[in-house]
Amino acid sequence: MRNISQRLQKIDSMVSTHYQSIWDCCCDHGLLGLTLLKRQTADTVHFVDIVPSLTTHLESLLQKHFSADDYIQAWQVHCIDVAKLPLVIQDKQLVIIAGVGGELLISFIESIITNFQQNSLVPPTSEIEFIVCPVHYNYPVRQTLIAHNFILLDECIVTENKRCYEIIHVKKQFGASADIDNPLNKISPTGDKMWDLSIKSHQQYLAKTIGHYKRMLLAAKDNEKQTINRIIEQYSSLTT
Ligand SMILES: C[S@@+](CC[C@H](N)C(=O)[O-])C[C@H]1O[C@@H](n2cnc3c(N)ncnc32)[C@H](O)[C@@H]1O
Repeated sequence: MRNISQRLQKIDSMVSTHYQSIWDCCCDHGLLGLTLLKRQTADTVHFVDIVPSLTTHLESLLQKHFSADDYIQAWQVHCIDVAKLPLVIQDKQLVIIAGVGGELLISFIESIITNFQQNSLVPPTSEIEFIVCPVHYNYPVRQTLIAHNFILLDECIVTENKRCYEIIHVKKQFGASADIDNPLNKISPTGDKMWDLSIKSHQQYLAKTIGHYKRMLLAAKDNEKQTINRIIEQYSSLTT
């Protein structure tokens, strides 16, 4: 099996408890899910991708290497659109979505939680954890998580091939128990505890992000300028 990238290794390391189900969404060759399966981090690891040739290949590989007693029923492969993820009600499940653009990721999160909420059997104490790692567009992804009252569990920046990625581990609680007012749970639109501005790659990532929004400002319509200026201010304030 191929080695997994530093970005996927970091996501793997953030899975630190046992789940009933882990969904490796947009799994491609399944490298992350295979790592989680080997570590037996869940009763069932679900591999999800929309491309049939990828899921067929993955299914053969899993049958070949993971059919022994230890792994019976420990994996499932789904060739489906992540927007239609067939989540069932479980105490502890984790949805991982990495390596796709932020806009697509936002649409997945919104579909998944809407579909789950529409299930009339969902008990008020239900929750779903997500680990997301968009390729770009982190600010709007974070805004979506905030708008849907997600709770922050962990976040970090990982550098791979001279590019920085944000990995955000969050939880959505569907009942009245959601403690979104606790400052420790709050998601910041710019990220918070993940930043270590003594690290050069973090300094560069912050400068690049601010530069991106400054360029957007130049091309923005009048009614967009205030929002973009606010984003620039928020990122700039991280250095003070
Ligand atoms: C670049 S790969 C990401 C692989 C891995 N998750 C990572 O982070 O390295 C993106 C994968 O998303 C899959 N994908 C794109 N849209 C999808 C959708 N709507 N539902 C399921 N999979 C999708 C593609 O087929 C592709 O395998």
